[in-house]
Amino acid sequence: MNEIKIFCPATIANISCGFDVLGVALDAVGDEMIVRKVSEKGIRITKLTGQDLPLETEKNVAGVAGLAFLEKSDYDGGFEIEIYKKIKAGSGIGSSAASSTGAVWAMNELLDGPFSKLDLVKFAMEGERLASGVAHADNVAPALFGGFTLVRSYEPLDIIEINTPSELYATVIHPQIEVKTSDSRSVLRTNITLAQGIKQWGNVGGLVAGLFTSDYDLIGRSLVDHIVEPIRSILIPGFDEVKSGALKAGALGCGISGSGPSIFAFSKGETAAKKVAESMKNVYKNIGIDYDVHVSKINVEGVRMLDV
Ligand code: HSE
Repeated sequence: MNEIKIFCPATIANISCGFDVLGVALDAVGDEMIVRKVSEKGIRITKLTGQDLPLETEKNVAGVAGLAFLEKSDYDGGFEIEIYKKIKAGSGIGSSAASSTGAVWAMNELLDGPFSKLDLVKFAMEGERLASGVAHADNVAPALFGGFTLVRSYEPLDIIEINTPSELYATVIHPQIEVKTSDSRSVLRTNITLAQGIKQWGNVGGLVAGLFTSDYDLIGRSLVDHIVEPIRSILIPGFDEVKSGALKAGALGCGISGSGPSIFAFSKGETAAKKVAESMKNVYKNIGIDYDVHVSKINVEGVRMLDV
């Protein structure tokens, strides 16, 4: 096999209480890529549609992740990458992670899988370092593994796959403003109080337990962020109205998707998720901001091959 076409899903990182450690993959939106083996060494981005992003290998997240892969590989040739962006950059649903994860997963498939999934996460994290200044794995891990993932530890890297309750749906609204992850990280405080920590790790444990036991009420009760959301939500117009409207419409919980500006909610069942979407849209219609909205099942497979 010399060429492969793939789909790499969008992801929601943090999931309210799990800053930099929790993430989940979506089914309804993701990037497509074509990756091909070539004899010329190195990585070349030969095509990029859908977004205005750099083609230079060292400035492109897929390029940088690909270089990290090649550095550890004994493969003698190189790769060409075509990227068909469907996820908007700076939207908060893992646009950079989809490109960098898709690239290294496809390269690994083309070489018959020399690297483990954990190795691939590490390569893709280099793309995140380029995009945001920090090599976080909470978008990359679910894009690669599918479903919900927990980064239990960064050093050493330890990723835990978490059960996906079958009736869980996500609604994500992206108000059409761009918030760079590097900017929304720079506003955060570097210290928290013990009282904040106690509330937060109670919720992380509750959310993981709720996901493993398909306890939808527990999932909802645990979708609370005492640390990051109070600061970052100020950057997102209409956040408080969207959240209170979503909860009133029946969402289990609602919060900022990744570093924003997208806002996510989880619901039990597709009908409830669609009702939440309507309530979210109404907020932005009223304040006059354009939006994209996605109602999605959880993607339990992660990055996958497509027919060419
Ligand atoms: N955990 C990262 C952050 C995700 O919130 O900055 C970025 O998408």
